[in-house]
Amino acid sequence: MKIAIYPGSFDPVTNGHIDIIFRASEMVDHLIIGVLSNVKKQPLLTVEERIDLLKATTKYLKNVEVEAFSGLLVDFAAKKNATIIVRGLRAMSDFEYELQMAQTNRSLNKNIETIFLATNIHYSFLSSSVVKEIAMFGGDIHALVPPVVEEYLKSKFK
Ligand code: COA
Repeated sequence: MKIAIYPGSFDPVTNGHIDIIFRASEMVDHLIIGVLSNVKKQPLLTVEERIDLLKATTKYLKNVEVEAFSGLLVDFAAKKNATIIVRGLRAMSDFEYELQMAQTNRSLNKNIETIFLATNIHYSFLSSSVVKEIAMFGGDIHALVPPVVEEYLKSKFK
Protein backbone atom coordinates (compact mmCIF):
# COMPACT_ATOMS: atom_id res chain seq x y z
CA MET A 1 0.00 0.00 0.00
CA LYS A 2 1.48 3.35 -1.07
CA ILE A 3 0.97 6.04 1.56
CA ALA A 4 1.99 9.64 0.87
CA ILE A 5 2.11 12.82 2.92
CA TYR A 6 1.33 16.24 1.47
CA PRO A 7 2.69 18.62 4.11
CA GLY A 8 2.21 22.36 4.43
CA SER A 9 0.91 25.24 6.51
CA PHE A 10 -2.41 25.59 4.60
CA ASP A 11 -3.14 29.00 6.14
CA PRO A 12 -5.59 28.74 4.39
CA VAL A 13 -5.89 25.98 1.78
CA THR A 14 -6.11 27.43 -1.76
CA ASN A 15 -7.19 26.05 -5.13
CA GLY A 16 -3.50 25.50 -5.88
CA HIS A 17 -3.27 23.09 -2.95
CA ILE A 18 -6.55 21.40 -3.93
CA ASP A 19 -5.21 20.75 -7.41
CA ILE A 20 -2.11 19.04 -5.96
CA ILE A 21 -4.21 17.07 -3.43
CA PHE A 22 -6.57 15.77 -6.12
CA ARG A 23 -3.76 14.73 -8.48
CA ALA A 24 -1.68 13.13 -5.71
CA SER A 25 -4.69 11.21 -4.40
CA GLU A 26 -5.00 9.56 -7.80
CA MET A 27 -1.38 8.37 -7.67
CA VAL A 28 -1.30 6.68 -4.26
CA ASP A 29 -3.49 4.41 -2.16
CA HIS A 30 -3.70 6.81 0.75
CA LEU A 31 -2.84 10.50 1.05
CA ILE A 32 -2.36 12.23 4.37
CA ILE A 33 -2.47 16.02 4.37
CA GLY A 34 -0.07 17.00 7.14
CA VAL A 35 -0.87 20.41 8.63
CA LEU A 36 2.17 21.92 10.26
CA SER A 37 2.03 24.33 13.09
CA ASN A 38 4.91 26.35 11.60
CA VAL A 39 6.83 28.25 14.26
CA LYS A 40 8.49 30.39 11.57
CA LYS A 41 5.17 31.84 10.39
CA GLN A 42 2.48 33.92 12.10
CA PRO A 43 -0.69 32.06 11.10
CA LEU A 44 -4.07 33.72 10.68
CA LEU A 45 -5.96 30.47 11.28
CA THR A 46 -5.48 28.04 14.12
CA VAL A 47 -4.39 24.50 13.22
CA GLU A 48 -7.94 23.32 14.01
CA GLU A 49 -9.48 25.91 11.65
CA ARG A 50 -7.06 24.92 8.87
CA ILE A 51 -7.88 21.25 9.38
CA ASP A 52 -11.64 21.91 9.34
CA LEU A 53 -11.38 23.81 6.03
CA LEU A 54 -9.20 21.09 4.50
CA LYS A 55 -11.60 18.38 5.64
CA ALA A 56 -14.59 20.28 4.25
CA THR A 57 -12.94 20.71 0.84
CA THR A 58 -11.53 17.19 0.48
CA LYS A 59 -14.33 15.09 1.99
CA TYR A 60 -15.27 13.76 -1.46
CA LEU A 61 -11.81 12.17 -1.80
CA LYS A 62 -12.19 8.89 0.02
CA ASN A 63 -8.46 8.05 0.29
CA VAL A 64 -7.50 11.42 1.79
CA GLU A 65 -7.20 12.24 5.49
CA VAL A 66 -6.09 15.40 7.27
CA GLU A 67 -3.91 15.45 10.35
CA ALA A 68 -1.84 17.96 12.29
CA PHE A 69 1.82 17.39 12.93
CA SER A 70 4.71 19.06 14.68
CA GLY A 71 8.39 18.25 14.76
CA LEU A 72 10.23 16.66 11.86
CA LEU A 73 8.27 15.75 8.75
CA VAL A 74 10.23 12.50 8.29
CA ASP A 75 9.24 11.41 11.81
CA PHE A 76 5.58 12.09 11.07
CA ALA A 77 5.90 10.18 7.77
CA ALA A 78 7.52 7.19 9.49
CA LYS A 79 4.81 7.19 12.17
CA LYS A 80 2.15 7.05 9.46
CA ASN A 81 4.04 4.40 7.40
CA ALA A 82 4.30 6.89 4.54
CA THR A 83 7.17 6.50 2.07
CA ILE A 84 6.37 9.44 -0.19
CA ILE A 85 6.33 13.20 0.42
CA VAL A 86 4.41 15.22 -2.16
CA ARG A 87 5.24 18.85 -2.89
CA GLY A 88 4.00 21.25 -5.54
CA LEU A 89 6.40 23.37 -7.59
CA ARG A 90 4.97 26.71 -8.71
CA ALA A 91 8.03 28.31 -10.28
CA MET A 92 11.80 28.07 -10.44
CA SER A 93 11.93 30.20 -7.30
CA ASP A 94 10.38 27.30 -5.34
CA PHE A 95 12.95 24.85 -6.64
CA GLU A 96 16.02 25.71 -4.55
CA TYR A 97 14.13 25.57 -1.25
CA GLU A 98 12.25 22.42 -2.23
CA LEU A 99 15.39 20.64 -3.43
CA GLN A 100 17.15 21.45 -0.16
CA MET A 101 14.18 20.19 1.83
CA ALA A 102 13.93 16.98 -0.21
CA GLN A 103 17.64 16.30 0.17
CA THR A 104 17.55 17.05 3.90
CA ASN A 105 14.60 14.73 4.40
CA ARG A 106 16.29 11.98 2.38
CA SER A 107 19.44 12.32 4.46
CA LEU A 108 17.33 11.95 7.60
CA ASN A 109 15.40 8.93 6.29
CA LYS A 110 16.52 7.13 3.14
CA ASN A 111 13.24 5.22 2.89
CA ILE A 112 11.29 8.38 2.09
CA GLU A 113 11.17 9.83 -1.42
CA THR A 114 9.92 13.31 -2.34
CA ILE A 115 7.94 13.71 -5.53
CA PHE A 116 7.17 17.09 -7.09
CA LEU A 117 4.03 17.91 -9.01
CA ALA A 118 4.07 20.91 -11.34
CA THR A 119 1.44 23.33 -10.08
CA ASN A 120 -1.43 24.07 -12.43
CA ILE A 121 -0.40 27.12 -14.48
CA HIS A 122 -3.56 28.97 -13.36
CA TYR A 123 -2.29 28.89 -9.77
CA SER A 124 1.44 29.43 -10.26
CA PHE A 125 1.22 32.96 -8.76
CA LEU A 126 -0.91 31.85 -5.84
CA SER A 127 0.02 31.61 -2.18
CA SER A 128 -1.92 31.63 1.07
CA SER A 129 -0.46 35.08 1.86
CA VAL A 130 -1.72 36.51 -1.44
CA VAL A 131 -5.21 35.17 -0.72
CA LYS A 132 -5.21 36.63 2.82
CA GLU A 133 -4.04 40.02 1.58
CA ILE A 134 -6.73 40.24 -1.11
CA ALA A 135 -9.41 39.12 1.36
CA MET A 136 -8.22 41.58 3.99
CA PHE A 137 -8.77 44.49 1.59
CA GLY A 138 -12.15 43.20 0.45
CA GLY A 139 -10.94 41.90 -2.94
CA ASP A 140 -12.45 39.01 -4.86
CA ILE A 141 -10.91 35.63 -3.96
CA HIS A 142 -13.66 33.56 -5.56
CA ALA A 143 -11.41 32.02 -8.23
CA LEU A 144 -8.55 31.38 -5.82
CA VAL A 145 -10.00 29.33 -2.99
CA PRO A 146 -12.76 26.77 -2.39
CA PRO A 147 -16.18 28.34 -1.55
CA VAL A 148 -15.97 27.33 2.12
CA VAL A 149 -12.64 29.18 2.47
CA GLU A 150 -14.04 32.24 0.69
CA GLU A 151 -16.95 32.36 3.13
CA TYR A 152 -14.66 31.80 6.08
CA LEU A 153 -12.26 34.61 5.14
CA LYS A 154 -15.13 36.99 4.34
CA SER A 155 -16.56 36.54 7.82
CA LYS A 156 -13.10 36.77 9.41
CA PHE A 157 -12.36 40.14 7.78
CA LYS A 158 -15.88 41.58 8.07
N1 COA B 1 -0.53 26.28 -4.95
C1 COA B 1 -0.64 27.46 -4.34
N2 COA B 1 0.14 27.84 -3.32
C2 COA B 1 1.05 26.97 -2.88
C3 COA B 1 1.22 25.72 -3.47
C4 COA B 1 0.37 25.38 -4.55
N3 COA B 1 0.47 24.23 -5.18
N4 COA B 1 2.22 25.08 -2.85
C5 COA B 1 2.66 25.91 -1.90
N5 COA B 1 1.96 27.04 -1.91
C6 COA B 1 2.17 28.21 -1.06
C7 COA B 1 1.55 28.11 0.29
O1 COA B 1 0.25 28.63 0.29
C8 COA B 1 2.50 28.91 1.13
O2 COA B 1 2.14 30.27 1.05
P1 COA B 1 2.51 31.30 2.24
O3 COA B 1 4.00 31.32 2.38
O4 COA B 1 1.94 32.57 1.76
O5 COA B 1 1.84 30.77 3.50
C9 COA B 1 3.85 28.71 0.46
O6 COA B 1 3.56 28.29 -0.83
C10 COA B 1 4.75 27.62 1.03
O7 COA B 1 4.13 27.02 2.06
P2 COA B 1 3.94 25.49 2.39
O8 COA B 1 3.84 24.61 1.23
O9 COA B 1 2.82 25.45 3.34
O10 COA B 1 5.30 25.20 3.00
P3 COA B 1 5.93 25.70 4.35
O11 COA B 1 7.22 26.31 3.95
O12 COA B 1 5.02 26.49 5.20
O13 COA B 1 6.13 24.33 5.10
C11 COA B 1 6.91 22.05 5.30
C12 COA B 1 6.76 23.28 4.44
C13 COA B 1 5.71 21.83 6.19
C14 COA B 1 6.98 20.90 4.33
C15 COA B 1 8.23 22.17 6.08
O14 COA B 1 8.26 23.39 6.77
C16 COA B 1 8.45 21.03 7.07
O15 COA B 1 8.59 19.90 6.68
N6 COA B 1 8.52 21.34 8.36
C17 COA B 1 8.72 20.34 9.42
C18 COA B 1 10.10 20.46 10.03
C19 COA B 1 11.09 19.63 9.28
O16 COA B 1 10.93 18.44 9.07
N7 COA B 1 12.20 20.27 8.89
C20 COA B 1 13.28 19.58 8.19
C21 COA B 1 13.05 19.53 6.70
S1 COA B 1 13.79 20.93 5.91
